[in-house]
Amino acid sequence: MRKKIVAGNWKMNMDLEEGLKFVGSIDKYFKENPPEKGSVILCTPFIHLAGAAQILKQGKISLGAQNCASEASGAYTGEVSAWMIRSTGAEYVIIGHSERRSYYNEDDKLINKKTLLAINSGLKVIFCIGEVLAERESDKHFLIVRRQLEEGLFTLSPEQMDMIVIAYEPVWAIGTGLTASPDQAQEMHKYIRDLIKEKYGSDCAKKMPILYGGSCKPSNAAEIFSKPDVDGGLIGGAALKKEDFTAIVEAL
Ligand code: PGA
Repeated sequence: MRKKIVAGNWKMNMDLEEGLKFVGSIDKYFKENPPEKGSVILCTPFIHLAGAAQILKQGKISLGAQNCASEASGAYTGEVSAWMIRSTGAEYVIIGHSERRSYYNEDDKLINKKTLLAINSGLKVIFCIGEVLAERESDKHFLIVRRQLEEGLFTLSPEQMDMIVIAYEPVWAIGTGLTASPDQAQEMHKYIRDLIKEKYGSDCAKKMPILYGGSCKPSNAAEIFSKPDVDGGLIGGAALKKEDFTAIVEAL
């Protein structure tokens, strides 16, 4: 059986006090109502990681960052390395999010480098891919996703692939209120799984969690998650509200 996962991506929201208070309340909720069907990850800004790791220590919720540097250490003012993230107690890092690709010009090569650094630092990677609207409208979405996988991810060894969770996030659905239909999500998730099978074999493909992201909310989560190749979600806006986030976890 594949792992089912709901991961919250807070993006650049919440100051230190608000964030730690929110982590505390989510932790408390899931201690009282353990998620039955899968695991929960909170991906917070860097400033929350060390404090959040202490709060989450005894519980079942995992912690992640949203980005890491493309170098291991040294004179890179303002950067945070994968190993620094790992040293806080965090276990995951999101790499290749569309906001990093588009606002910070991160290309497949850079994303590949970050992914390898993260894995070598002991972090699991939530590896994000997805097409923009114009690419879907011109029927290039499969081509784009294939390129993102081939150039960003498929240099990994089969062992390294055990450290990967894939998140398919159609860029036109992120933060827009538009969601891929459950059938559109399933179609792409199956395509992704088939590519992994071609490259790494069917065991790896069967084990790989593939999450959907993009305006996932309590009202649509259950239907999207019910698709056979959708193994959970990467949640942005709705991860900032306890009732919405916990309801999405319960939709697994
Ligand atoms: P959204 O964001 O749920 O707000 O659309 C998802 C994401 O960017 O990971």
